[in-house]
Amino acid sequence: MEKNEWWKSAVGYQIYLKSFFDSNNDGVGDIAGITNKLDYIKNLGVDFIWISPFFDSPMDDNGYDVRDYKSIYSEYGTMEDFKNLVDRAHSMGLKVIVDMVINHTSSENNWFVKSVARATGFDDFYYWKDPKFDENGKILPPNNWQSFFGGSAWEYNSEREQFYLRLFSKSMPDINYNSRVAIKQIQDVMEFWMNLSVDGFRMDAISHIGKVESFKDGKVNHTYKMFSNLDNAHEFLTDILSIVKNKNIVTMGELGGCPTIYDQLKFSDSKRNELNMVFEFSHLNRFNKKTGKPDYKAIINSLKNKEKLISMGGWSTLFWTNHDYQRLVSMYGNNKALSKSASAFATAMYLLKGTPIIYQGEELAMTGYPFKNENEFEDVNAKMLIKLASTESEKKKVFESLKNTSRDNARTIMQWNGSVYAGFSEHKPWFLVNPNYHSLNVAVEQTEEHSALNEYRKIITLRKENSDAFCFGDCTFKRAPRGVCRYIRRSGKTEYDVIVNLTDEVKKYLLPVGAIVYTNYGEVIRGELSPFEAIVLKRQILI
Ligand code: GLC
Ligand code: CA
Repeated sequence: MEKNEWWKSAVGYQIYLKSFFDSNNDGVGDIAGITNKLDYIKNLGVDFIWISPFFDSPMDDNGYDVRDYKSIYSEYGTMEDFKNLVDRAHSMGLKVIVDMVINHTSSENNWFVKSVARATGFDDFYYWKDPKFDENGKILPPNNWQSFFGGSAWEYNSEREQFYLRLFSKSMPDINYNSRVAIKQIQDVMEFWMNLSVDGFRMDAISHIGKVESFKDGKVNHTYKMFSNLDNAHEFLTDILSIVKNKNIVTMGELGGCPTIYDQLKFSDSKRNELNMVFEFSHLNRFNKKTGKPDYKAIINSLKNKEKLISMGGWSTLFWTNHDYQRLVSMYGNNKALSKSASAFATAMYLLKGTPIIYQGEELAMTGYPFKNENEFEDVNAKMLIKLASTESEKKKVFESLKNTSRDNARTIMQWNGSVYAGFSEHKPWFLVNPNYHSLNVAVEQTEEHSALNEYRKIITLRKENSDAFCFGDCTFKRAPRGVCRYIRRSGKTEYDVIVNLTDEVKKYLLPVGAIVYTNYGEVIRGELSPFEAIVLKRQILI
């Protein structure tokens, strides 16, 4: 391992700061709130934090719409607060990764204002196209590309009398990196944050920065292929990231748009000058269409592919959830076995080779929110989908689906303790608090030996204390009954056998020999695996 490849043996923690901790009791999480909770994070065994965007923003998409990349959203605090956080984190041995949103800006960003006015250098800073017209002279978008948030990906601007491309919300225009000015401006922003001693960047929506330049129609329902994982995305990215070369800066990129393993490799190959690691999502929302249960085969296959990527020379993050997905236990686990199901899935994922990243509250087995009506949603994506439903029955259908899938499930307030507003704030929070906070919170889980929190700590400790095997050793998947994930991690003469029943059923299984170094049940029955049982065995092998 190269000396500066610290991230290969590190564990990360993602903070969605608006919901994390409110230090000044105005109901909104803030930067000083993160600083307050660094001890908690450090105690989990974490080495770096990734903070969701905190730049000045009109907050259409909770900060993923950046108005000014060099200042801090006023409700989140000040630049002093940020410097303080970085200093404090560094003094504790924690690194800080900033969320760089470079695929798009807010339409309130000065670059966009200049582009609308065709100011010198900014004319082509975004993707502008002339409208089409129907036979009645009605203005139509230039092609059929669909936004990730629903509806056309084009928005008409009456001042320029042109459409601009926006893959996300209508106030988030996509930057055109064919423009040298755009490349320079984004590099300047990244320099700014590097000068503030950040340790790396999470590159938001990075697989979409290149588009098919003919701007022809895409295949209906698959138009995302016209702006996902294309060759020009790699060209732009290499160009942009030339400024982090030879610096001790880690880059992790979000790859949407169904990247193949070769796409992932291209982005994360250590021989190319792109990203250090990638996030891909093929293990999430995988359900068997007939039974409605998790599609275990697909999930385990996806884990295998993450290992394959690494064996090919790329690198993968290991994660079960983030601020864009339903909570892990509500997606794949079981409400009646929260700690067991959380720790089972954590064992299966976080003992693989790669870089684990835990999303705030996942370590508590926080659950999705019991939404009762559509007005409870905050997320621009959810609101758009509701708006697009034209009839009452369609609206109902959309609501039923959003209950389980809305990103808002992951954005409820972090549950610190059983006091009012879950100890997040003394003021009514900006968003919902899950009613289960009375019994599901940090304070309670600190005291329970087998809480999800303590099981997460044990799993991370096991990984770190045996980093030769878990961070750097080989990984071989083994056959196992359906729904059971089994792999062996090996370094030298020591091997660890990781066996996890991901299902809520008992599985007949003759346990292999070996000393038990982790169990989420406390007691192990040799002839079967209980629901969500996770076991790690250690053996010495003769070579
Ligand atoms: C990424 C973010 C998501 C955001 C989108 C647009 O997918 O994770 O929260 O809405 O990019 O920036
Ligand atoms: Ca606050």
